[in-house]
Amino acid sequence: MRYGYFDDNAREYVIQRPDTPLPWINYLGEEDYFAMLSNTGGGYSFYRDARLRRLIRYRYNNVPADSGGRALYLRLSDGDFWSPAWQPVRKSLSAYECRVGLGYTRITSTYRGIQCEATYFVPLDQTLEVWRVKLTNQTDPSTNLSVFSLIEFCLWDAWDDQTNFQRNFNTGEVEVDEAAGVIYHKTEYRERRDHFAYFACSEPLAGFDTQREKFLGAYRGWHEPIVVEQGASANSIAHGWQPIGSHHVKVTLQPGELRTILFVLGYHENPRDQKFDPPESQTINKRTVKPIISRYLNLANVATAFAELKKHWDSLLSILQVYTPDEHTNRMVNIWNAYQCLITFNLSRSASFYESGIGRGMGFRDSNQDLLGFVHMVPARARQRILDLAATQLPTGGAYHQYQPLTKHGNNDVGGNFNDDPAWLILGVSAYLKETGDWSILDELVPYDNKVELATPLYEHLQRSFQYTIDRLGLHGLPLIGRADWNDCLNLNCFSEEPGESFQTTTNREGTVAESVFIAGLFVLASHELADLADHLQHADEAQRYRAAADRMEETVKAHGWDGDWFLRAYDALGHKVGSHEREEGRIFIESNGMCVLAGIGLQDGRAEQALAAVNEHLATPHGIVLQQPAYSRYYVHLGEISSYPPGYKENAGIFCHTNPWIMIAETLLGHGDQAFGYYSRINPSQREAISEVHRCEPYVYAQMIAGKDAATHGEAKNSWLTGTAAWNFAAITQHILGIQPTLTGLKIAPVIPTDWPGFSAKRVYRGVTYHIAVKRVGKGNAVTLKVDGQPVAGNVAPLPSQGTTDVKIDVVLA
Ligand code: BGC
Ligand code: NOJ
Repeated sequence: MRYGYFDDNAREYVIQRPDTPLPWINYLGEEDYFAMLSNTGGGYSFYRDARLRRLIRYRYNNVPADSGGRALYLRLSDGDFWSPAWQPVRKSLSAYECRVGLGYTRITSTYRGIQCEATYFVPLDQTLEVWRVKLTNQTDPSTNLSVFSLIEFCLWDAWDDQTNFQRNFNTGEVEVDEAAGVIYHKTEYRERRDHFAYFACSEPLAGFDTQREKFLGAYRGWHEPIVVEQGASANSIAHGWQPIGSHHVKVTLQPGELRTILFVLGYHENPRDQKFDPPESQTINKRTVKPIISRYLNLANVATAFAELKKHWDSLLSILQVYTPDEHTNRMVNIWNAYQCLITFNLSRSASFYESGIGRGMGFRDSNQDLLGFVHMVPARARQRILDLAATQLPTGGAYHQYQPLTKHGNNDVGGNFNDDPAWLILGVSAYLKETGDWSILDELVPYDNKVELATPLYEHLQRSFQYTIDRLGLHGLPLIGRADWNDCLNLNCFSEEPGESFQTTTNREGTVAESVFIAGLFVLASHELADLADHLQHADEAQRYRAAADRMEETVKAHGWDGDWFLRAYDALGHKVGSHEREEGRIFIESNGMCVLAGIGLQDGRAEQALAAVNEHLATPHGIVLQQPAYSRYYVHLGEISSYPPGYKENAGIFCHTNPWIMIAETLLGHGDQAFGYYSRINPSQREAISEVHRCEPYVYAQMIAGKDAATHGEAKNSWLTGTAAWNFAAITQHILGIQPTLTGLKIAPVIPTDWPGFSAKRVYRGVTYHIAVKRVGKGNAVTLKVDGQPVAGNVAPLPSQGTTDVKIDVVLA
């Protein structure tokens, strides 16, 4: 069952009813100001950091779901009122449509002949969101309408806001410039904050409110505010308690008349010594914010800003466009997967409808992997991200597991010792170099632990990443796992017996025994990448050393990391095998099999074939590939969080989508195009749109997890949007299945596509040159014959063209 449809020409998903199985959201904003907006107009906004600079209060796990925060109310003169986005009033609308677009959402509805079209977006380079509300009277008589806007302000630090009520009920402060239609939220501005929020309206106000209780009335919910019911604002000024922003605008609409109202919610900073005006007062200095407000309360300016946003996305997406026989592939690669990659790049795992914005900052391994799907879009931002991440690396080569986006400093509460973390930096940097050829990044001086005095060139950070693993090998010569590797829930040194103790930060074992075959694979992969960089820098000895270490590790994996039919997963703290036929539960895991093959281990000796066949036999389901089997049926203290989940969910044998592209890529390395594409299609959100009642999450983006075959709700997705699935699937389909792969020396074209595809074409902008690629299948295999601008070229890499070339034509024959 579907709840809408894809409008590919408009690059929108059109939701046709408001009561989707879960809130289906969109992200607005790209650099500093971010907003989440659901298909019923809910969600919240923040400046840079969802924890430390939150503008809108939001209650997770609320009932009804996704209510409060942000709302619009319309009221007719007979007292009937409704929400044009359906929530929070939830009166039945005669028409409803929500267009989820790239960086904007437009919700259009009709109730008793009044059409409301609300477009929400964040203009490029601005720290504000615009709501453009178009009202049309589709009835005969002229109509008097009241419009009420609503924002519930968060007192900035979202954690404190939800916990420290004895203080917070006293601190709230606002200013209202009624004539200008602007409500200013200035809690804590009197003391150490030099930022405030504003909520502005383009129309003359009939009234306003800034105190929640006055707006709602005592013991009333968002669906029945007394002010809306009575049709008159209370003109309340918040003194402590819960500051809100609500404007009341009265409009009379003639039959057929259209009126547009603009609301602007924004964040603004003043220089510390110019906070107040007059200086000795406590009144906000509004000199620098006023021009911004007036600019975006102007219809023409808003229209221009919206057009610029559209143009921006056209240009981002035009970097890679593919035309394959499969509409789901085209739609995801050309629009939605790329879009999701930008969102994960921006927010890592910090703020979604499943991530509270309080719990997590930017993950070290997460953000490095996110680069894989983003680096081609805005390389300059990828470059900065790499430098920010590397600056949180520790002198040992280890890394803080997370950093706060606002401060960019490593997060002490979570700490480090996730022993896979450093290796991902090598992959992130190498992806950047392959895309851009900007070798200067390796010379950038980058601090350790954000201490400038410790800075070295970035290249040395990569060397220390490599060394970090070498310095931490276990009894079998495999890498020690530390707190955990990619699988945060395989906590082999945790041994927690205390309810509520964090699996992520508790370590009750020395960590000198438990080893990870996954990190071994990752290390082999990263060492080869690093060796290629060393070659380029003409450090032949070093390159030799990295390759030798990779070879040694490969031998170690073959000797101690092979279970007979598949790759082992790990050795636990007692030296017992994890992911082995010797176990009753957790006999085979996806991660080590994916990563080892991806690193090239076993490609020559049949092990890779065997491992992937085992994955297919034991782990594949019609909804995707589960993480391990058999699922753990009870809690194992020596395994940790993985066994805390009921069977089939999350890391305990859920379809943890992030891992599936590793298997897709591994299959392509063996030349299995049908199998790789088959796996790709099973978790492709667009493909799954037809079973939205089962999948339940948004059909336009990947979710972290789909419940596995042991779960009662097999096929149900959770944790949409912020997942490494986005970047890895983008890499799997574009670079390995379609085979358009940036390398250090040029664009490689090595498709491993399904046997029944006649071919495909693509346009890829790479290092400033537009490649027009046409792939034609003439046989069933993957052998590539390449012609570049009509000239045969040996191998499968189109060499970098001469300076000044703008377009290159590549013809590929697959046989
Ligand atoms: C989740 C993991 C996540 C970890 C760290 C665990 O509860 O299952 O997927 O990586 O928390 O936040
Ligand atoms: C989600 C985390 O963000 C990621 O870092 C981790 O690799 C996976 N969960 C698996 O546990």
